[in-house]
Formats: sequence, structure tokens, C-alpha cells
Amino acid sequence: MLFNLVMLVSLFLVDFAPACCEVDEFIYNGFQPRNIVLDGIANLTSNGLLLLTDSKTQDQGHAFYPNAIHFKNSPNGTTVFSFSTTFVFAIRSDYRPLDGHGLAFVIAPQRGIRRALANHYLGLFNSANNGDSSNHIVGVELDTIYSADFDDMNDNHVGIDINGLKSLANHTTGYFDDDDTSLFHDMTLVSGQPMQVWVDYDGSSKHINVTVAPLLMGKKPVRPLLSLKCDLSPIFYQTMYVGFSSSTGSVPTNHYILGWSFKIDGKAQELSQLPKLPRLEGKRTSRFVTIGLPVMSLVSVIVATSVVVYYVRRKKYEQLVEDWEREYRPQRFNYKDLYKATKGFREKEVLGAGGFGKVYKGVMPITKLEIAVKKISHESRQGMKEFVSEIVSIGRMQHRNVVPLLGYCRRKGELLLVYEYMSNGSLDKYLYDQPRFTLAWTQRFRVIRGIAAGLFFLHEECDHVVVHRDIKASNVLLDGELNGRLGDFGLARLYGHGTDPQSTRVVGTLGYLAPEHTRTGRATPSSDIFSFGAFLLEVACGKRPIQPRQDGDDLILVDWVFSCWSRGNILEAVDPNLGTDFVPGQVELVLSLGLFCSHSEPSLRPTMRQNLLFLDGVVALPELSALGVSSAGLTFDHPAGFDDFIKSYPCSSINAHSRSSSVAESFLSDGR
Ligand SMILES: *[C@@H]1O[C@H](CO)[C@@H](O)[C@H](O)[C@H]1NC(C)=O
Ligand SMILES: *[C@@H]1O[C@H](CO)[C@@H](O)[C@H](O)[C@H]1NC(C)=O
Ligand SMILES: *[C@@H]1O[C@H](CO)[C@@H](O)[C@H](O)[C@H]1NC(C)=O
Ligand SMILES: *[C@@H]1O[C@H](CO)[C@@H](O)[C@H](O)[C@H]1NC(C)=O
Repeated sequence: MLFNLVMLVSLFLVDFAPACCEVDEFIYNGFQPRNIVLDGIANLTSNGLLLLTDSKTQDQGHAFYPNAIHFKNSPNGTTVFSFSTTFVFAIRSDYRPLDGHGLAFVIAPQRGIRRALANHYLGLFNSANNGDSSNHIVGVELDTIYSADFDDMNDNHVGIDINGLKSLANHTTGYFDDDDTSLFHDMTLVSGQPMQVWVDYDGSSKHINVTVAPLLMGKKPVRPLLSLKCDLSPIFYQTMYVGFSSSTGSVPTNHYILGWSFKIDGKAQELSQLPKLPRLEGKRTSRFVTIGLPVMSLVSVIVATSVVVYYVRRKKYEQLVEDWEREYRPQRFNYKDLYKATKGFREKEVLGAGGFGKVYKGVMPITKLEIAVKKISHESRQGMKEFVSEIVSIGRMQHRNVVPLLGYCRRKGELLLVYEYMSNGSLDKYLYDQPRFTLAWTQRFRVIRGIAAGLFFLHEECDHVVVHRDIKASNVLLDGELNGRLGDFGLARLYGHGTDPQSTRVVGTLGYLAPEHTRTGRATPSSDIFSFGAFLLEVACGKRPIQPRQDGDDLILVDWVFSCWSRGNILEAVDPNLGTDFVPGQVELVLSLGLFCSHSEPSLRPTMRQNLLFLDGVVALPELSALGVSSAGLTFDHPAGFDDFIKSYPCSSINAHSRSSSVAESFLSDGR
């Protein structure tokens, strides 16, 4: 957009006032052409006001004190002398609320700033050097525009900028009362009223203070608006130049400086008898020129902007709705709401990233409901209808061990699933890799019991059998009361879909995939139970199903637990983080059940109904040896060079790379 174009300006300074001598104090009560260096669109008015920018848009102006200032004793000195400066400014725009940009007091290595940009760059930096420590520039910005790029707080703030426009300190413009209440009074930078600024640096304590007040107040507030501890010695050369910088954006804005004083090692002199600002009202020249023309051009700019914004927004919030979705209307979320809830799917809001896509935290605009939005890129529409119908029906049934699905939204190539936000995150965070918090055994057992109930619900209590396909600790979420809830149900189906056996892809997580699942590519309730077995072991042992080891030989959890069991000491496998704080009978039950569920023969694994009966102690778990585990062996297929993340491999490639790596199997295969 034309009016958003940023102009790159190279500056060539007129060196009319050669740096004759270094000074440490000066004062301007109004400005004269001979005693200040101007560039860009900066100019002086006939009555001595410094006008940094005027009617030109997308432009910038600078004004510098002609002589260098001695800030240090030696070029590499580590102490910057204390200094103090004060100035009076006013910002005026006839086009409020479309304001121009702000202005900045600046300390720079040269008398001017080269190759800076206008607009929100304030004439200080450009997109390439913003934030670069080789700039050696310190600024105090009086910023009237909110720029998200620079983490601005609002469109009316004061900030301390060092080498870049991301302020090191910032505050809404205003001042604090001197009395004990220290009440804060807001000020509006673009009010057009003259305001005074004080910038003070203490070289020994290395503090920089910035204070602002309306000129009419006539004194400096005691409490500074900003106070930043900051050693300027690495930034300052021995001598530096001081001045102002300011820029306009899409509307003309006048930035005036009325007076300015500066002093090294002392308090800057009081300003007095400042030149008068033009009167705010009462322009009597041709109304057409002063009001008509600008209003007309402004209206056309607004119309053009609105049209562009309308189309950009329409594109931005575009979503996909098909006829068959009508019955799911209550579950349908508006993309715009999700966009707002997640602050535009900001990286900062990412809760986690799995194989299917990123999950964002969000807060719904009106209800303030906390949500988690899973964004899945999905090109094909194949299976979408069945998938949506399945997740919606599960969502409607609601089970307390399944993460509540609130609804969904579709866009071109994208599916968004909206879940209730689970405040305690995923279970894996509490299990492996020296977790910051670990769960006590009773909590773990409750989570296991809950997940068993959730899976039983999916397998046997839904309208039809729902295979989860990806059970593992990182898909188990903990709500505010640390109840375990299954997340991501049915998702793998969207990817595993396809009737052509040649193209069937195995989806799931290595280490949790049942051997027959990787062979046939078909997920069944028994392959879920295999994964549930791996889950039981990881919760009890605090280890991943396949734990990489330093010697490069991975620890296969199921084999290891099996070897502990065959040595007659299955409790050896319990998570050392639990110490002695566990119920041995329960741990033994969970570990044995884990092995039982890992049986290589699908038909011999217990169903979820049986699992629940065992966990509840209604039915005693038979001896493992009696179950034929030892004779049938445990097999564990996995390809070489895996990692623990979700991978989807074409079926054939899994088979090509896989090897049977079970220790237990090689030990026990002779029994077969
Ligand atoms: C400064 O103002 C004078 C008249 O006041 C004008 O002639 C001159 O072109 C202006 N300079 C700039 C750089 O705008
Ligand atoms: C200052 O530092 C620069 C680089 O760090 C070095 O080259 C120079 O010799 C130093 N000058 C003095 C006077 O120490
Ligand atoms: C700017 O102000 C906001 C609001 O007071 C604060 O959250 C933020 O941390 C400040 N930024 C800096 C760099 O001080
Ligand atoms: C900066 O402000 C603090 C109070 O917040 C004050 O103690 C300190 O003396 C001030 N420093 C300067 C250089 O004005």
C-alpha cells in the first residue's frame, strides 16, 4: 500500500558549523539558523521554533547540536560522565486520531543519522540495523504509534531505546504526584500542548531517569517516569553528538521543539522565554485548502484502506463450510474468534507441537473461556466427513477421562480442533528427564485408572468402536485436579485413512505401536491395548518405551521390565524418583499388566474391560507365567534410527527397516 511505503532516506549533512571545540553545556531558548544543524525536513520557524517535521508525510527530520560533547575521559573509558538535559516539545496534527509518529531525543556518534527510516522507525534506525550494537545510539522516544514489531505497549508512551526500537524501559506518558500518594496522571503526547522532558544520567550509579510533565506545571516531578540501570560506557564513544529525530507517517504532523538545554556533570539550566507555538485554532485561510482538501483526501484514503482491509480480512478469516456440516453447527467455531482468541496464532501461545500440528492456547473473546486449539494442516478432504462426525459424537458424549472437545473449524487445507484447556499440561512432563515436579504414586495410579476408563469408553461405550491409535503419556493431559484425560482421540484415523492397502500408512508413535499394527497397517482395539501397556510401563518406570542410552544401545522398556520380572524382582523397575513412596502391590500390578498388554499375540492381550477389573482389584491378575507370556515371548518391532516422536512411515518402509529387537524374545523363543 502506497501510504505504508517506507522511504529510505540517505542523508548528506551540510557542515556549516565545523566542530570547533568540545563543550559541556549549552542552552537554547528558541533556535536560530546559525546554531543548529538540520537535515531532512527539519526547519526553523521565523519566531525560533524548531520544526522537526511538517506537512511532508513519510519523511523525517533531525536537528543536532553542532559540537561534539565529551562524554568520557578516554576512548575506552568505562565511566560516562553524568549528564542532564531538558527540552520542551509539542506534537500537533490536524488529522487526529490518525497521528503522525513521535520524536526522540538522541545521542549518536555523528551529527545526524544516516540511512534511517521514517514512520515507526522514528528516523533513528532502519530495518537492517535496528537492534544492532554497532549503532552506538541512545534515544528517549516519545512514541505516538503502537508498533507491534517493537513490542510497544500502546500508542502514547515514553521509552528508553539503546541501539534499537525495542525499548529497554517504557511507560505510558504521564507523571507522578510529588506527595505521598504518588498518583499517576496521564498525558497525551499528541494533545498539541507543550510538554517538558528531563533526561538525567548518573555516571556513578549508572542510572538513566526520564521525567515528563506539562510545561504549564512549571516544575519537574520528583519521581521519574522511567528509571533504568544501564551502563552507557560500552555504547558511548569518547565524544558523541546530541540532538533530536522525528518522523511522519501517513498524515502530516508537526513536531516542535521550543527550547533545550544540556549539561555535563550538573543540572541542565532552566528554560525561559520560549517562542510561542502557533495558535491551535483559528486558521482563517481558505477553508477549502486547510480543511476541504485534506478531508477529501483523507476520506478517499479511508475508503481505499477500508476496501483493502475488507478484502485482506475476508481472506484472513476465510473458512470452509460444506453442506454436510450443517448438523454440526453448534460445534462449529468461527475462524475469526479462534484467530483473536490465540492472538493470531502467535508463537508465544504455542502449548506444544506434535506430529499432527501445533497446539495454541487461547481465550475466547466474549466468554473468556480458556481453550486449546490444535491446528492441523490437512490437504485431502477424504475421510473428513467421517472424522468430524466421529469427533463430534465423542465430544457430545463427554467422558471425564477424555479431553472435552468443544468444536472445530475448517479452512482450506486446515482443520482446527478446539478443546477445553487443561491447566496442568501433558503427563510426560512429570515423568522423564529429571522432571521439575513428579507425580506421587497415588496420583499416577489415579491417572492410570482414569485413562483405562477413558479408553474403555472409546472402545466399548461409544456408538461404535473408536480406536484411539496414539495412546502415550504425551497424549494424556492433566486437568486442574490432576485427573488424567485422553487427548487427540481419533486423530490418527484422519491420517491412517485409505482403503488401498498399498498406500496404507502406519501412524502412531514408535515404541507404542503393536507389532501387528506395523505389519498390517490396521489399527484395532488390541493395538490400542498394546500402546496402553507401553503407557502403563512408562508411568510406573518413569522412562520412555525406548530410552536412548549413551552407549548408543537403546533401552527397550518392555524387555527390561520383563528381565526384572524373570529375575524375580519386578519392583526393581519402579521409577527411582518415587523413592520408597509407593504401594508395592499396585506397582507390581501395573507393571505386570503392562507386560500382559504388550503380548505379541493380539488375541491374548486383555480387553479394556478386563484391564479395568484388574486395576480395580475385582479380578486378580493371573501369574504372568501362567499367561504364556514367557513362552510366547514379547516382541517389539522398531526400525533403526527412530526417535520418540510421531512418525508416519509408509508401511513398506517400516517393514524394510524393522528388526525384531526383543531381548526377551531371543531368550525365550525356544519355548515356542
Ligand atoms: C524552511 O522554511 C523556509 C521558509 O520558512 C523554506 O523556504 C525552506 O524551503 C524550508 N526548508 C525545508 C528544508 O523545508
Ligand atoms: C581501545 O580499544 C580498542 C579495541 O578494543 C583497541 O584497539 C585500542 O587500542 C584501545 N585504546 C586504548 C587507548 O586503550
Ligand atoms: C513496557 O511496559 C509494559 C507495561 O507496563 C511492561 O509489561 C513491559 O515489560 C515494559 N517493557 C519494558 C521493556 O520495560
Ligand atoms: C533517578 O531517580 C531515582 C528515584 O527513582 C533517584 O533516586 C535518582 O537520584 C535519580 N537519578 C538521577 C540521575 O536523577
